[in-house]
Amino acid sequence: MNIYQKKSDLNQITENLKSQNLTIGLVPTMGALHHGHLSLIKKALKENDKVFVSVFVNPTQFDNKEDLDKYPRTLDVDIEMLNSVCKDNIIIYAPNVEDVYGDNINAVHFDFDGLEVPMEGRYRLGHFNGVGTVVKRLFEIVKPDIAYFGEKDFQQLMIIKKLVVKYDLPVYVKGCGIYREKDGLAMSSRNMRLKPEYRKAAPFIYKILKKAKVQFETKSANKVEKWVEKQFAKHKLLSLEYFTIAETNTLKSFKRKSKDKSYRAFIAVYADDIRLIDNIALN
Ligand code: PAF
Repeated sequence: MNIYQKKSDLNQITENLKSQNLTIGLVPTMGALHHGHLSLIKKALKENDKVFVSVFVNPTQFDNKEDLDKYPRTLDVDIEMLNSVCKDNIIIYAPNVEDVYGDNINAVHFDFDGLEVPMEGRYRLGHFNGVGTVVKRLFEIVKPDIAYFGEKDFQQLMIIKKLVVKYDLPVYVKGCGIYREKDGLAMSSRNMRLKPEYRKAAPFIYKILKKAKVQFETKSANKVEKWVEKQFAKHKLLSLEYFTIAETNTLKSFKRKSKDKSYRAFIAVYADDIRLIDNIALN
C-alpha cells in the first residue's frame, strides 16, 4: 500500500499520472473507515486508474473541541481495510495538520448561496467553512478528475458541488447513496462510539424517516415535522436536534408542496453524546 504524509510527495505522483493520461479519483475521509467508505472507494476504483483516499480529521470543521478530540482515529485498521480492497491502485494521503494548514489553522469564509445556512450550518457554526477549506485544498493537492462523497452528508455534498461551480474547479463531484447497517442505521464513523443500548436504539432514526416519507404523501411538511418531534419527545434514549423537510435543490423550507419539485427530509439526533445525522428523499 502506498501511504504518504506530505503533499510535496504527491506532486510527482499526480504529475506522472496526468502525463500518462491516467485518471485520478479522490475519496476524502476522516478515517475510521466503514463499509460506506469502502463502497465509495470501490466505485472510484472502477471509474479511475488510481484512487487517492485522504485520511485526515480536519480540525477546522469541528465547532466543539471535545467532538474533535473524541473523533475516532484508527489509521492502522484503515490501512488494513484498504489493503483488503485493493493493494495496487489506492494511494493513501494521511497528513498531519501542519501539512494541510501550515501554521494557519483557520477556515476560509465561503458564501455557498445560502446552502450553508440551515440544518448543519445552524447547529454546527462554521462547519461548512471548514469543510469547504479542506476539500478545496485536497482538490488542489490531489487534482482528481472525479471526487466521491456519500449522500449521508447530503448538505455537505450540495455545498461541495457549489464550491466546484463557484471556483470553477476542474473536478466532477459524484454523490453516492447512503450505506446502511442491516437494521437501517446509516453507516458512520461515529457509530463505533455508541454504547450498546444506544446502538440498539439508533435504527429508530431511519424508521421514523421512512414513516415521515409515507406521511409526506398526504400531509404538509409542517404536519410531518410536528409528528416527528412528538415521536422523539416520547423516546427515552434519543433526543432530536432537528427534523426538517426542505426543497432538495435549495435546501430551503417551503410553505406549499409543488408537484414538480423534489423534497428531502433531514434529521440530526443525539444518542447520548454522539450526534447522528441521516436523510431521505421524499419524492
Ligand atoms: O465527510 C467527511 O468525512 C468530511 O467532512 C470530509 C469531506 C472528509 C472533509 O473533511
